[in-house]
Amino acid sequence: MKSILQVLNGETLHVPPLWLMRQAGRYLPEYRALREQAKSFLDLVYDAEQAAEVTLQPIRRFGFDAAILFADILVVPQGMGVDVTFTEGEGPKLSPVANGTDLDRLFLEDNKFYQSVYDTVGRSFEKLQSENFPDTTLIGFAGGPWTLACYMVQGSAKDHDFEIVRARAFADPDFFDTLIDKITTATIIYLRGQAKAGVEAVQIFDSWAGVAGDVLFDRYVVAPTKRIVTELRREFPTLPIIGFPRGAGDRLSGYAVATDVTAVGADYTTDLEALRRDLGARLPIQGNLDPTTLLAGGSQLTNSIERIRAQLTNTPHIFNLGHGILPETPIAHVEQLIKAVRGV
Ligand code: CP3
Repeated sequence: MKSILQVLNGETLHVPPLWLMRQAGRYLPEYRALREQAKSFLDLVYDAEQAAEVTLQPIRRFGFDAAILFADILVVPQGMGVDVTFTEGEGPKLSPVANGTDLDRLFLEDNKFYQSVYDTVGRSFEKLQSENFPDTTLIGFAGGPWTLACYMVQGSAKDHDFEIVRARAFADPDFFDTLIDKITTATIIYLRGQAKAGVEAVQIFDSWAGVAGDVLFDRYVVAPTKRIVTELRREFPTLPIIGFPRGAGDRLSGYAVATDVTAVGADYTTDLEALRRDLGARLPIQGNLDPTTLLAGGSQLTNSIERIRAQLTNTPHIFNLGHGILPETPIAHVEQLIKAVRGV
């Protein structure tokens, strides 16, 4: 069995399998070259052949144990009929979902945006076979419904506390319940499509889970994730699901138990020893190297890697960052990390 799937199946490997969040991206010269030829980031995402090339780039260069599908979490809002654009240096912009009429218009069927991503999955899977990477796991993903709702209501990533969004969730719970429900339904359709097209595991990126305190966390992070897990598992009982509620802090182990995800992603602020104690060393953990440690390099990088490995001995562990790799990260530091993790 592929090493990532072994760990997701509960096995502890002597050398943890390794991949990096955002491993296909701007720190790679070969990514920047393809990106320059594309009209925009989204044009690259929806060119299935090119997107599959990008998916394979970090595998060819580094031999990571997983390839993550090249797409974006905002594919789901786009498929639901929201206008999405990326402006250089400003991040994503969306046509906001503001009222009941906007909610009624949201589209809940498969569509050309999702189909294009399924095509990327198929092509990526074929390339992994034909280029002789039989041990590399293909991971699909979607954004968490809460994170997508944050972007869809605010229309941008301007305020990372999402205060207007949170106030709306409290002031108008019917609106927010319906929105989350629709996003959850669309996400299940989308992840089902990815699974049918060949992904071998999926990750749910709930990047802004950390701003949802208490009530909102249970209602809009945990509950919809649990629904995604339940419905996907009914159809794909063996498909591993990695939950990554970034910034969940003390709520991470409760999330893991309540959602029944196969594994949890720990962000770089997570106390791994406490998490492992709370989870009883059974649930696979992915993470959690601070991406700025990788940016900095040097002996502190090696020490940080050793520390994480020591904290997770006798635990099913997938080595990863605690958030996406930074675009300025030197290739040499990634090579150093791979040597340190694999001991070669
Ligand atoms: O390599 C991989 O991990 C797979 C591809 C992937 C991308 N985005 C490609 C991408 C994945 C898994 C994502 C997830 C994603 N997208 C998240 C969740 C993870 C996280 O970082 O918290 C979020 C919040 C987004 C939304 C998003 N997409 C933002 C905020 C940005 C940055 C905006 C900017 O202007 O840089 C993106 C763009 C994006 N997604 C890039 C890549 C490689 C960079 C765009 C470019 O090449 O110009």
